[in-house]
Amino acid sequence: MADITLRVNGSEKQVSVSPETPLLWVLRDTLQLTGTKFGCGAGLCGACTVHVEGNPIRSCSTPVSQVANKNVTTIEGLGPNGLHPLQEAWLAEEVPQCGYCQTGQIMSAAALLAKTPKPTDEQITQAMNGNLCRCGTYERIRKAIHRAANGGAR
Ligand code: FES
Ligand code: FES
Repeated sequence: MADITLRVNGSEKQVSVSPETPLLWVLRDTLQLTGTKFGCGAGLCGACTVHVEGNPIRSCSTPVSQVANKNVTTIEGLGPNGLHPLQEAWLAEEVPQCGYCQTGQIMSAAALLAKTPKPTDEQITQAMNGNLCRCGTYERIRKAIHRAANGGAR
């Protein structure tokens, strides 16, 4: 066990866990931030995507020790003053089906828009191709990303 400090959604958190514990379990089980989902556990599906220093990472395969003293953002903190524009666009486009993959989708999309505010279809495909959706919501995801990039308009 080790005492590890993280900055999660702007708040400093100290956790006492094995340093090898995947960040995903620290978020979900220790900090009760259950918006981030477990899919494959092997870095293959993107369901567990969170941001570390603004970059999207797979929390299922990131030991918590790797993010000590770093800024971690989860879906709960993505829009600190309400919904993030992507979340508004997701609602407007009625993107989710079962919903399970959608946290990871939004986190990857948010990282894309932070760096590329008006992405092309190709840039969206490239940024999102590690996020799988068994329900096949890919086209609605693309539309919602464009909508958010256009300030909420289609
Ligand atoms: S649960 Fe992390 S990539 Fe699938
Ligand atoms: S909405 Fe069901 S897996 Fe994506």
